[in-house]
Amino acid sequence: MAVVNVKLKENPYKIIIGHGILKDAGKVLRPLKIGEDAVVITNPLINRLHGRTLAGGLKRRGFSVKFFEVPDGEQSKSAFAAVALLKKIAQYDTGKKIFIVAFGGGVIGDLAGFVAAIYKRGIPYVQVPTTLLAQVDPAIGGKAAIDLEAGKNLVGAFHQPKVVYSDVKVLTTLNDRQYRNGFAEIIKYGMIRDKKLFEFISRNTKKLLARDLSALTRVVVRCSRIKADVVGADEKETKGIRTILNFGHTAGHAIEAASRFKCFHGEAVALGMAIASEISHQKGMLRLNDQLRLQGLLGAFGLMDKKNVPLRKLNVDQIIRLMARDKKFQGKKNRFVLAGRIGQVKVVEGVPEKIIRAALNKWLKR
Ligand code: GLY
Repeated sequence: MAVVNVKLKENPYKIIIGHGILKDAGKVLRPLKIGEDAVVITNPLINRLHGRTLAGGLKRRGFSVKFFEVPDGEQSKSAFAAVALLKKIAQYDTGKKIFIVAFGGGVIGDLAGFVAAIYKRGIPYVQVPTTLLAQVDPAIGGKAAIDLEAGKNLVGAFHQPKVVYSDVKVLTTLNDRQYRNGFAEIIKYGMIRDKKLFEFISRNTKKLLARDLSALTRVVVRCSRIKADVVGADEKETKGIRTILNFGHTAGHAIEAASRFKCFHGEAVALGMAIASEISHQKGMLRLNDQLRLQGLLGAFGLMDKKNVPLRKLNVDQIIRLMARDKKFQGKKNRFVLAGRIGQVKVVEGVPEKIIRAALNKWLKR
């Protein structure tokens, strides 16, 4: 079992990573003193596959457990779904001391975190992420949000979990597409901060694709450390440090939305990284060799494959309009996270539209 500390002044917490640890969740939660009654927010598939293991572990340590299911998919990150859930929780919450358990992928984590942030002006919650992507990124750092028609994650709060509890064994039940999807964020960490990680992933692609537990655990631990460090240095994204986690996300979020979420988050971010690296190269920041290495590694995880990423209906003007809503942009000025080399990125303002358009054309019109 590995423990990574998220060192925050007011809300420090641990990320616990292990194999087959789901059944012991109660043991870890008991000393946190966050309540007695667990409200587990999950989706039907995760509940069916792993709900009983989690509930058993919590009940053994004296917690009561109530499950609320929400459908899988980005549509569950809506104001409608959040209010429906809040009403059910309020009805259930009589004479209890509840806390929330976000038990699922990124959608569940964001929605459950958001509900925990606003119910009674904030109650404790814990993240038990069940996808590779959620374990390495959104479960850590307290960003909780729902979407509006106008854009993804537009309504939200910073609400830190009391613990992040990542069982890598659960990842063996992910379907292939969901599993590969997680590698976009993993490769992103290599690009933004850690050349050694990038090289480890390159050397161990086969093992990782075969879900070799030792290689996989190593990667989840390393990414959790990087995320914890970045969040520790800039919890509320006010210092421009946390912004680097958005490498590939400017175009990525726009592609995800334009595909009506048929494109998974990681798949869209992979394309977004290809686009950001093309912009970086055109601006003279990134050598062609590094750009090709990034594309090659994304490709090795099937993330550059048109078969997996349904792009036919994406239109460059629509992507440019959607990108203008990016939270990083300030007024009319665009801001991109661009790469200098593998392991290093920086935030760049005012990229000429001609360069952006050419990069989008190159990657979206294949
Ligand atoms: N996923 C980006 C962040 O947590 O800041």
